[in-house]
Amino acid sequence: MKAEGRIIIALDVDSPDEGLGLVRRLRGRVGLFKVGSQLFTSAGPSVVARILRMGERVFLDLKFHDIPNTAAKAALAARAMGVSMITVHAAGGSAMLSAVMGALKSAPAEPERPLVLAVTLLTSLASSDLERIGVAGTPAEQVLRLADTALEAGVDGLVASPAEVVRLRRHFGSSPLLVTPGIRPAGTALNDQARAATPREALGAGSDFLVIGRPVTAAADPLRSLNRIIEAIR
Ligand code: C5P
Repeated sequence: MKAEGRIIIALDVDSPDEGLGLVRRLRGRVGLFKVGSQLFTSAGPSVVARILRMGERVFLDLKFHDIPNTAAKAALAARAMGVSMITVHAAGGSAMLSAVMGALKSAPAEPERPLVLAVTLLTSLASSDLERIGVAGTPAEQVLRLADTALEAGVDGLVASPAEVVRLRRHFGSSPLLVTPGIRPAGTALNDQARAATPREALGAGSDFLVIGRPVTAAADPLRSLNRIIEAIR
C-alpha cells in the first residue's frame, strides 16, 4: 500500500461544511476520512453519504457499546451506509462482539462489509481511573485482556496507541489490523495526546493505519501539512 493510503484524517469538526471543505482539499491524498461522534451527531448520515459520493472511503468511528442485538443492528446500519471501517468497544464483551461480526458476515455480499476495529482502553484513562471503575491490573494488562477478547470474537483489528503497538504485535502477530491515533509529526503541538509518536515511528512499530486529526485539520494550510507527513513516511 502507498504511504498515503495508510493515513486516516479525523474530521473532528462541528459542521458538515467544515468537514466537506477538508475532504475537498485533501481528497485523493489519504486512505480514509474518519467521521466520529462530534461530526456525526451534528451532521448525521448525510455527511457520510456526501463524502462517499466524492469517491472517498469513510471510517465511521462511533465506538458501539450496547447489548448484542442493538450493537449488531447498528453495525448493519453502518454497513448499509457503505462505510469501510467501524469501531466497537471491546469492553462490550464476547457476546456483543460476536453478534456484530456474525451479523455483518451473514448480510448480503454487497456493499462489502466494513472492517471492524475494537477499542480496548481509551488512552485518556489512567491507572487511577481503572481502580475507580473496579478494573484490576495495569492499563497495559487490561489492553491485552480486551484485545484478546475482541480478536477471539473475530474482529479485524484494534485501535491502539503508538505505545501499545509493539506489545500487541509481539502478542498477536502480524494479522490483526492496528490503527493508531496519537500521531504527531516531529515539532508539532501535542494538544491533549499524552503519549504521541511521529508517523514514521508508529509505522515502524507495526501500525497499519495512522489516524491524524489536528496536526492536519487545524493547520493554517492542511494540504501542506499533509504533504509534509506523506514525504516523511515515504
Ligand atoms: O487531533 P488528533 O490527531 O489528536 O485526533 C485523534 C483522533 O483519534 C480523534 O478523532 C480521537 O477521537 C481519536 N482517538 C484517540 N485516542 C484513542 C482513540 C481514538 O485520539 N484512544
